[in-house]
Amino acid sequence: MSKPKVLLTRQWPEAAEARAKELFDVQLNEDDHKMSVEELQDAMKTYDAVCPTVSDFQITSEILDVEDRKCKVLCNFGVGFNNIDTDAAKAVGVVVTNTPDVLTDCTADIAMTLLLMVARRAGEGERLIREKKWSGWRPMHMLSTKVTGKKLGFIGFGRVAQAVAQKAHFGFGMELSFYDPYPPSDDVIKKFSATKLESIEDVLKSADFVTLHCPGGGSNTNLMNAERLGMMKKSAFLINTARGDVVDEPALVQAIRDGVIAGAGLDVFAKEPSVTEDLLSMDNVVMFPHLGSATTETRVAMGMCSLDNVKAFFDGEEPPNRVA
Ligand code: DGY
Repeated sequence: MSKPKVLLTRQWPEAAEARAKELFDVQLNEDDHKMSVEELQDAMKTYDAVCPTVSDFQITSEILDVEDRKCKVLCNFGVGFNNIDTDAAKAVGVVVTNTPDVLTDCTADIAMTLLLMVARRAGEGERLIREKKWSGWRPMHMLSTKVTGKKLGFIGFGRVAQAVAQKAHFGFGMELSFYDPYPPSDDVIKKFSATKLESIEDVLKSADFVTLHCPGGGSNTNLMNAERLGMMKKSAFLINTARGDVVDEPALVQAIRDGVIAGAGLDVFAKEPSVTEDLLSMDNVVMFPHLGSATTETRVAMGMCSLDNVKAFFDGEEPPNRVA
């Protein structure tokens, strides 16, 4: 029997590409270019499975509704799948899967890195040294915000949030509160001595650091708007490792400029890879180029997870990480 034809829309780590070659008749993207809408439309006609990712053009009905579509399953390389219009996929009977769990810890590490860096002015300090502007230790130099023992508020308390909670509570003695319309079990809440709050606003008002862990898109777009930013403490920092569109970027710029909040740590942006120009000159903003899952170990594991889903689908089994 011939092997299923599978397209990886971007370059993957070597070990994951090697497994893809063993299992399937695979097409790699060797020069790692962003595929055009036309290429993705062609892919729908050519491959049995496509493994897309967050930085591709969104897979909407424009791509899915091609004549003679061959593609039956989209095995996303990524836990967030807002790059796929799942309603459009469902409408034409294309299955969608994602890669949860394998990136939980590394994404949480990046949230903690941002939190620590922005609070302790680490980016600013490093720039000072590189620019050869450091004039030496003195009692009043670069005073910053203590992290240990502070209040950390979560918007969304799923897998990544709980991994942040683990590090923040047990590593830094932080007091935790959260809002999640689908809260975890009482055991999980008890483990972190976390306080479950009834609204996003309750979290914003009480936290020294607010960290976002909700999906992007839909009603979460611009969830952190001017009004909600205005509810945070003046001394508080916003951390975003979720999706860029969850924060109204112009409103964030204004809030930071006006001293409504103390600063932000951002791993994701509304219109990646472009970044609102005003953020670039703000010393109290730490920015990473969407690094949440960017460790070799995790990216290999994401590839393997995506392939497990392709394999299960063509073995006639329910893919382990089906989301639509
Ligand atoms: C994820 O897995 O959601 C990462 O943000 C990359 O898409």
